[in-house]
Amino acid sequence: MSAERTKIAVFGAGYVGLVTGACFAELGHEVVVRDILADRIEALGRGEVPIYEPGLDELLERNRERLSFTTEVARAIEGTEVVYVAVGTPPTYSGDADLSAVWTVIDELPRVQKRIVVVMKSTVPVGTGEKVRHRLDERGMENVGYVSNPEFTAEGTAVRDFLHPDRIVVGAFDDADGELVERLHAGIDAPVVRADVASAEMTKLAANAALMTRISFINEIANVCEATGADVVKVAEGIGLDRRIGPSFLRAGIGFGGSCFPKDSLALKQLAANSGYHFQLLNAVIEVNELQKRRVIGKLSEQLDRLRGTTVALLGLAFKPDTDDTREAPALVLAGRLLAEGANVRIWDPIARVDGLPGVTQVESVAGALAGADAAVLVTEWPELREIDWGALRSTMRRPVFVDGRNMLDPAEMRALGYAYDAIGRAAG
Ligand code: UDX
Repeated sequence: MSAERTKIAVFGAGYVGLVTGACFAELGHEVVVRDILADRIEALGRGEVPIYEPGLDELLERNRERLSFTTEVARAIEGTEVVYVAVGTPPTYSGDADLSAVWTVIDELPRVQKRIVVVMKSTVPVGTGEKVRHRLDERGMENVGYVSNPEFTAEGTAVRDFLHPDRIVVGAFDDADGELVERLHAGIDAPVVRADVASAEMTKLAANAALMTRISFINEIANVCEATGADVVKVAEGIGLDRRIGPSFLRAGIGFGGSCFPKDSLALKQLAANSGYHFQLLNAVIEVNELQKRRVIGKLSEQLDRLRGTTVALLGLAFKPDTDDTREAPALVLAGRLLAEGANVRIWDPIARVDGLPGVTQVESVAGALAGADAAVLVTEWPELREIDWGALRSTMRRPVFVDGRNMLDPAEMRALGYAYDAIGRAAG
């Protein structure tokens, strides 16, 4: 397939929209990113990147002449052939996805003379494409095509995931529109799965559900390991080498967080429930994850007797390393529970900020977090935590209680340094 230069408008300048825009510019297309947030658009115009995503700054900088930013719909749509929708779809109180930002984009689309194709990048419930199609037809906009092209990028590796994906999924009502979206990706070496719109929508939700199921599965295995004296790290290695199982997403820990998994699991659960199906397995996956985030409290209570009046250092706030994203971060649940128990909470994170967390103190160094603390919990496996001189820090703690929520450090080494070290799914020493 030839790489033709296409004009693409991307609606939404969040993680997904910016990565999508920057990567399409990198592939040679002309991209205009539109958002309603004037500050954000102005900052982007000045070359400032409002989010932390490795490689994104360089990509935006390198492709400056093919990228522009605007708040105006008319300016974004002018001469464009493809409109990517990459706006947020947060959960509502009922657990359904809130599609109001998607509908605003669709309803604001002006009538155009030539054919344009709307491509859904935002994660939406199955059936959204049908509804959008219907709404466009009602407005007499049959010349606007619709394609579902879900994203499978993970934060922290989003640029690499976009440019080197395992697969590209394209679900279209009209074959020619699907062809066009497939052609936009020319230059990327990956299998393309062409599907109907509903199947493409479901593929995204099902992929996330499969990954979350693996995490909750290994977390439950970890909990049984703790009760029986086995080591989940060894068990994960042993089962991961089975080609039918594979090694990824078998890291036991204090549960998954982030902008996708918690929200998408609720959305899929609700989608099934709305059509009368009780998705038992997914319900269990969600429940196991909630309990997992709280297990650390039990571990701390065991070691400290009572939490009231103690000082606990949380190492890591971001829901995973290499991002400043704190959405649904397990650290927030931990901090909230610890405060409720009357403990003092300090958080260290190299990038993420605790703004808006009353009662929690942010400290600028791991040493500052541990000094005088009664316990430390490793919450996010930031690589710099491997470089810490844990031996030197131990004596600065009031009590050397250490819970490694990500099984990152070596239990024997930590115990040899004098820590009362506990981890997830590894027999206590
Ligand atoms: C995820 C999906 O990977 C991505 O395909 C989708 O598009 C969006 O959701 P993301 O949320 O950015 O991406 O991060 P990911 O690396 O998948 O991690 C999600 C959570 O699972 C993190 O909290 C991480 O700590 C946790 N996790 C991951 C585990 O607890 N154990 C594992 O083995 C893997």
